[in-house]
Parts: sequence; structure tokens; C-alpha cells
Amino acid sequence: MKAKLSTIVLTLFLSLTIFSQAASAGEVEVLHWWTSGGEARSVAVLKEQLEKEGHTWKDFAVAGGGGDTAMTVLRSRAVSGNPPTAAQVKGPQIQQWGDEGVLTNLDAVAQAGKWDQLLPAVVADVMKYEGHYVAVPVNVHRINWMWVNPEVFRKAGAKIPTTWDQFNEAARKIKKAGFIPVAFGGQNWQEATVFESIVAGVGGTDFYRQTMIDANPKQLNSPTMVRCFEVFRNIKQYTDKNAPGRDWNLATAMVIKGEAAMQFMGDWAKGEFTAAGKSPGVDYVAVPVPETSGQYLFNIDSFIMFEVSDKENKKAQMAMARLILEPKFQEVFNVNKGSIPVRTGMPRAAFDQVALQSINDFIASAGTGDLVPSMAHEMAVFPAVRGAIFDVVTNFYNSNMSAENGAKSLASQVSAAM
Ligand code: BGC
Repeated sequence: MKAKLSTIVLTLFLSLTIFSQAASAGEVEVLHWWTSGGEARSVAVLKEQLEKEGHTWKDFAVAGGGGDTAMTVLRSRAVSGNPPTAAQVKGPQIQQWGDEGVLTNLDAVAQAGKWDQLLPAVVADVMKYEGHYVAVPVNVHRINWMWVNPEVFRKAGAKIPTTWDQFNEAARKIKKAGFIPVAFGGQNWQEATVFESIVAGVGGTDFYRQTMIDANPKQLNSPTMVRCFEVFRNIKQYTDKNAPGRDWNLATAMVIKGEAAMQFMGDWAKGEFTAAGKSPGVDYVAVPVPETSGQYLFNIDSFIMFEVSDKENKKAQMAMARLILEPKFQEVFNVNKGSIPVRTGMPRAAFDQVALQSINDFIASAGTGDLVPSMAHEMAVFPAVRGAIFDVVTNFYNSNMSAENGAKSLASQVSAAM
């Protein structure tokens, strides 16, 4: 009887503890597109930190670099009245979701965490709808990077290029030596990623602003834009026949393995080198895309948070918002992801030379007016305009369209989308 009684007490105790844990813990369902090796390692940090606080993470990963598939899935969930707790949404789209009245107010967490003091004002503004925080920024990615396998360059006797003319010279040698000069992923967002870096470098920062941000038809159909299309087309001969449809991380893997010499891609590519145990300056080198040194095309990941009625889930949601801007998360996440912290005043000890260069270039480019939002990564224009640019760029790259017609078509399609 005694034994029985103690079993009953123990069972009661256990069920009470489990119950009380469940009562204080909520669930977050998080939509994101971080599915590559480096990306998955990064998002796991947030999951871990949230679970440490007793909450549950329901992963809603939608594969597809650049996030366009994820955005389509998010729309359909929201339309059916069942959005997730949080979703990876960026730039001007945050305002569009704000217009729909489905986002939750994060001001209390923001005030407690002093977000207004910790975030650069330009970043904080993007995260607010009508003056209230509705999104949390995670990081800052730089787009205009070139990822280099120095061993391949060495074997080919080629020099890492800083201009498009030098690129030609190097690429020719690399091809002759039997390597693939450029690891390329033929998907529209990757093509646009390369294209916008060319526009910035060849045309200069003002031209980038006039075309990729202001969408000025006169500049879109200009001799400078024709030249940008020519430089873009010229790359194609240095890619391999399997490029069409290739995912960006598989292209990065070609550089890591020494099959290809270089890749033009944002610094989430660094997450792949890191996940593969590679060191910057030794196994790989990161330099700005030719002719873009001093320029910084930025891309900020962020999460919007939807209205949630369940009290415990709401607590979990607010915990997620709070954790994202805490120093520990900012450090571990960004080291894995290849980006730099969006929180200012962070210690730099944990960051490698590529991240340090990114931090320094970010600050310097802000001073010279060369810090500009990425069109390809949804920071600069509304989705309809971005879609029009994507269509023209991808049609051009995958056809024999002349550079003149590329520029003409860019101006007319963008105008029609505005
Ligand atoms: C996102 C990155 C992501 C990349 C590839 C970009 O738009 O900002 O976080 O790693 O797409 O999926």
C-alpha cells in the first residue's frame, strides 16, 4: 500500500510538473527559406534558444533561395486566415503586410530591448508600420561579393580580377586550364543578384539608384544599361552546361571543391564555406564583385509577426522577437550565416576577416553614399517592379536578345509594372 501511495504521489507530481511546463510554454510556427547547410545551422540557433525557454518551434521551411516560393506559400496561408506565428519577410513588403492589418505590435518588446537605440535608424524605419514595430531584423548581408578558390587561380596562373576586363583575362586562362571559371546557378533570382552587382559597378552608385531603386525609364534604357547587359552576357561563356536551374549552394560547393574558380553571390555563401570547415584567406578568398569595391549592396533579413490569440503562443512569439536582437543570438547566428549583426555595438572578436571587412565597408560606404539596398533581395522596390526586372534579366540571359533590346525591354516592362 505504501509503495502504491508513493507511486500515486510521484505520478501526480510528474503530471503536475509537466502540466505547469506546458502551461507556461507556447509554440511558434516559423516560415523561412533557410534550408542549405549553412542556413540550417544558423536558424537552428534560434530554435535552440527558444526551446531553452520552454517553448516549442514548429519549423515551416519552404526551400527556394531568394524566398519567392516561401512568399507564395505565405500568401496562401494568410489568405486562408491561418498565417504562421512569424515569417521571413523583407523590405517594402513589410509595409504591404502592414496594410493588410494582420501584423502584431512589437513595441513593448522593442522598448524593453531598446531597439531604437540599438538599430541604425534606416533599419528601424523599415521594421515599423505607421511608427510601430511589426518586424524584427536579424542581420545584414552584403550582395556584391565574389567567392574565390585561390588554388584554382594559382593552377591556372590567373590573377583575381578587380575589373571586368581583368575578369575576362582570368576567366580565359582558367577555362584553358580545364576548370569552370564561374560557378553559376541559372535561376532568375541568382541571375538578378549577379546583374545588380554589375549595374552598381559598371554604372556607379548613382546609376544603381536611378535604375534599381527609382526605376527611372530614361536610365533603364540608356547606353550605360546596354553596357551592363553586355558585361552580364559575357559571363555566360565561362559557366558550365549544367548551370540552368542549379541551386546557389551547389554552385558554392563547386568553388569549395575546386571544380570552379569563382561565384558571384551574397555572403550567405560564406555560411557554406564555414559549414564545410573552410577558412577565409586560406581555403577561399572573398573580394567585392569587379568594379564594386567601396560599394555595399545590402540585404537585411527580418521576421514579421502575425496576430496570435492564444496567450501562451503570444508569449513564445514575444520571446522570439526579444531573442533575435540579443547579443548572444546576434553573434552565433551571424557567424554561421555569413552575415554581420544588425545590432550595433557588438563585440567583434568572434567574427572572421570577411565579416570584419563587411562591417568596415558597411560603415565606410554609409559615409560615402555608396550603401544601397538590394533590388534582387527585396530591399529596394515593390514586388511588381522587382518581378518585371527579373523577367527581363532572365529572358535576356537565356536568349539571344541584344543588349540594346534588353535595355529597351527593361524600361518598358518596368514602366508597365509601376
Ligand atoms: C536571404 C538570405 C538567404 C538567401 C538564399 C536571401 O534573399 O536574405 O538569408 O540565405 O536569400 O536563400
